[in-house]
Amino acid sequence: TKPVATTNRSIVDRMLHGNKTMVIFYGSQTGTAEDFAQRLSKQAKRYGIAAMVADPEETEMEELQRLIAIENHLAVFAVATYGEGDPTDNFQEFYEWLKDANDLTGLHYAVFALGNKTYEHYNAVGKYVDKRLIEIGGVCVAELGMGDDDGNIEDDFIAWSTIFWNSVCQAYQLVRNTDESTMRQYKLVTGNSSSGTIFTGEVGRLKSYEKQKPPFDLRNPFLAPVLENRELFKPDCLRSCLHLELDLAKSRLRYEAGDHVAIFPSNDSTLVNRIGELLEVDLDEVISLVNVDEDAQKKNPFPCPCSYRTALTYYLDITSIPNTQVLKDIAQYATDDSERALLTLMGSYSEEGKIKYKEWALDSCRSIVAILEDLPSLKPPLDYLCELLPRLQARYYSISSSPKIHETSVHITAVVVQYLTPTQRIVKGVATNQFRHMYLKEHDPKSISSDNNNNDATSPSYFLPVYIRKSTFRLPYKFQTPIIMIGPGTGLAPFRGFIQERHFQKTQGKPVGETILYYGCRKRNEDFLYEEELKYFENEKTLELHVAFSREQDHKVYVTHLLRADGEKIWKLIKNDNAHLYVCGDAKHMSRDVHTIIVDIAQQFGNLTAEEAAAFVKDLVVKGRYSQDVWS
Ligand SMILES: Cc1cc2nc3c(=O)[nH]c(=O)nc-3n(C[C@H](O)[C@H](O)[C@H](O)COP(=O)(O)OP(=O)(O)OC[C@H]3O[C@@H](n4cnc5c(N)ncnc54)[C@H](O)[C@@H]3O)c2cc1C
Ligand SMILES: Cc1cc2nc3c(=O)[nH]c(=O)nc-3n(C[C@H](O)[C@H](O)[C@H](O)COP(=O)(O)O)c2cc1C
Repeated sequence: TKPVATTNRSIVDRMLHGNKTMVIFYGSQTGTAEDFAQRLSKQAKRYGIAAMVADPEETEMEELQRLIAIENHLAVFAVATYGEGDPTDNFQEFYEWLKDANDLTGLHYAVFALGNKTYEHYNAVGKYVDKRLIEIGGVCVAELGMGDDDGNIEDDFIAWSTIFWNSVCQAYQLVRNTDESTMRQYKLVTGNSSSGTIFTGEVGRLKSYEKQKPPFDLRNPFLAPVLENRELFKPDCLRSCLHLELDLAKSRLRYEAGDHVAIFPSNDSTLVNRIGELLEVDLDEVISLVNVDEDAQKKNPFPCPCSYRTALTYYLDITSIPNTQVLKDIAQYATDDSERALLTLMGSYSEEGKIKYKEWALDSCRSIVAILEDLPSLKPPLDYLCELLPRLQARYYSISSSPKIHETSVHITAVVVQYLTPTQRIVKGVATNQFRHMYLKEHDPKSISSDNNNNDATSPSYFLPVYIRKSTFRLPYKFQTPIIMIGPGTGLAPFRGFIQERHFQKTQGKPVGETILYYGCRKRNEDFLYEEELKYFENEKTLELHVAFSREQDHKVYVTHLLRADGEKIWKLIKNDNAHLYVCGDAKHMSRDVHTIIVDIAQQFGNLTAEEAAAFVKDLVVKGRYSQDVWS
């Protein structure tokens, strides 16, 4: 007999109920792995496989043992790596469970790892899951896929999914039958929603912003009042970097210097309205998108019911460049042959299609709005577009304050993202331009022609939905331990918190070790962040400050040059005084260069061979004496 549909966490019961044989688990922080999981589930239909996507956090993973009993079962893991080779929050529990699991004999599985080559522990979690499943008896159906977000992770996924489906076809003796692209995952339901049941931007519980209830976390953010929002760059600077102070007094949230604050941003209303105009849709219509698969864990792609306006403002990413699957899926709605052909080509996964996608979409930075503008015959139904677009993600910021000084507020140091695309469009970063808009509204209201940003009852412009994400970026346990901080640009952020904390300890009469900062910016009169504060700490003898001004002389000077010049001193601090090293900021170049320099310093001043120096630095990392807080 068939089990009844179940709302509990049993993934296997859900699978049995829906005659499903394949389950795709995702470990995702910012949505990429989840998107890949959804796409694999959709692609499965081509091969006559009924699949479902599962969030490990919502699943009893011991159930994998029961899964083995399902004939022709297959478990796929699309998992991202974070931090020092760590799993994502939603994969943490499963990761721990897997370490201790001892028997999954006969579990058919495949893994696609998501990571970024610029990080030391490249794809560590995916590699571990693959290795561990083999160790405990799993049967690998397709080779481990490696996605590199520093290159083109979309291409990596597409290339791997081809290999994956070929392997699956061989292993299960299947052939490809239908094309999945016309199949909808969610059905549109309209009408019948009373105003009290409509979401207006809440991430989790309905009305959670009106009636705030702790504990506050990823699923229940705290609506933090913005206490202060000021410009940090000097008037001569054409760019903008803002200092925000968020009030956590009523939240019971606690933080430590080095933690991150996550902010749920909202999209610029100009862009939201533009989509309504281009698709000729009343954005205030209230809709629900409901999963057509009654066994699916995820009933709606975002909180429903809500208006299109709410979905486009708070829930959907309308500024990133859509992936090839989205282009493929919307192609059918272009009435002009050449426009449809262009979209179909880019979604075709052919070599020519890839080149076209790179040139027309990626390199030209075309968001969905730009695509709809540039392909005027393209009119996908808005509810379908809402199904296809990825979720708008929270943005993380390294907290730039210490709770010892600012117990109930967190500070953010955010550089405003704005750039001109090859199609001559000005693109504004979602979160930082929301901060900028708030700033202008307060300090220069005339400069904003219309009220571009959102200001409804649930998200007043002076509140931001936030939660605190604990990090491992921590000051040494002993105050006497010297610290060397390397943080150019906004990489200074967590170090402002560290310095505040060390200064506080000093004022309490504690013996505090050397506190050395290598900071870099372009010019003293343009973008020297927190100059007065840093000078104050220098005068108070809390801080030893080294600043690299990259553009104040003929040749460029960066923090890396200063580090090399101070090699001997740095070596002594590390070797003799047990100093801790911290690096924050750009993951792509700076943190790698710093790593190379520290290895060179160890080699040169410690008289080590290249291998010994590399091993020495690795040991520093393992011992928690060389920490990074980097992003790309
Ligand atoms: C752990 C962590 C800590 C962080 N700490 C800080 C911090 O302390 N301060 C800080 O300012 N940021 C920090 N960031 C970055 C921050 O989270 C956001 O990514 C950043 O503020 C941009 O967000 P946004 O919504 O304004 O821009 P988005 O809308 O996300 O746009 C940014 C994206 O635009 C694209 N882009 C940007 N410039 C160009 C260009 N010239 N050409 C083409 N494409 C471009 C890139 O794809 C980029 O990812 C941190 C990130 C992480 C992961
Ligand atoms: C703060 C941060 C830390 C990261 N750490 C690692 C890492 O240690 N190793 C790695 O391979 N990738 C790392 N990445 C890259 C992510 O794994 C990669 O961008 C992935 O595509 C994210 O998937 P998601 O969107 O599903 O969360 C990191 C990314 C960020 C933003």
